[in-house]
Amino acid sequence: MRAMQIPSDHPLLLRIVDDLAARGWSQQNIFLPQALTLELAAECRKRAAEGELAPAAVGRGPFSEIREGIRGDHIQWLEPGQVDTCDSYLGLMDSLREAMNRSLFLGLEDFESHFALYPPGAFYLKHVDRFRDDDRRMVSAVIYLNDAWLPEHGGQLRMYLEEGAPHDVVPTGGCLVVFLSSEVPHEVLPATRERLSLTGWFRRRGNEPF
Ligand code: OGA
Ligand code: MN
Repeated sequence: MRAMQIPSDHPLLLRIVDDLAARGWSQQNIFLPQALTLELAAECRKRAAEGELAPAAVGRGPFSEIREGIRGDHIQWLEPGQVDTCDSYLGLMDSLREAMNRSLFLGLEDFESHFALYPPGAFYLKHVDRFRDDDRRMVSAVIYLNDAWLPEHGGQLRMYLEEGAPHDVVPTGGCLVVFLSSEVPHEVLPATRERLSLTGWFRRRGNEPF
């Protein structure tokens, strides 16, 4: 694995951890280095061109199904040890996992993540990331891979926070959004451009329901 760990007491990670503790979510507009963002975007497009991304399902286990009226993105789950670019991303996420475990005592044991490509017009209706029958997902993390994205391109992540109006995140390359998986309902608005991201979940130990 190409080394891309950062110390778990790095100021950027501490800021995220503090935000999570104080209000359950964090947005860092400049998180991923630009070179890595571009490489990951290229890797996502390459995999899409090779037909490796598939329509995402709703739900989990034997009850999952493809429903484009709910979510229209195409995804591919990441495996470690395939390409350096993805391993760099996984290394950074592992540093974040350590930082959260140190200060928040969440007992996060692993991280599952996928590339996501939303074709123009695709969306993901309002939902919560934790499954009804599986409560292992504790913290959601989305990183955007889009070059020169403008608000008028749409594709915002709309977060329904407990207080005030919904908060919209423009999916600009390098931006990271982190939130407690069971606490923040959210949706992805349709865009006029192809929209790329890496979405992942930090999980605690639990019993596999199936
Ligand atoms: C998800 C999701 C948000 C985004 O995949 O569950 O809500 O902005 N993604 O891509
Ligand atoms: Mn979600």
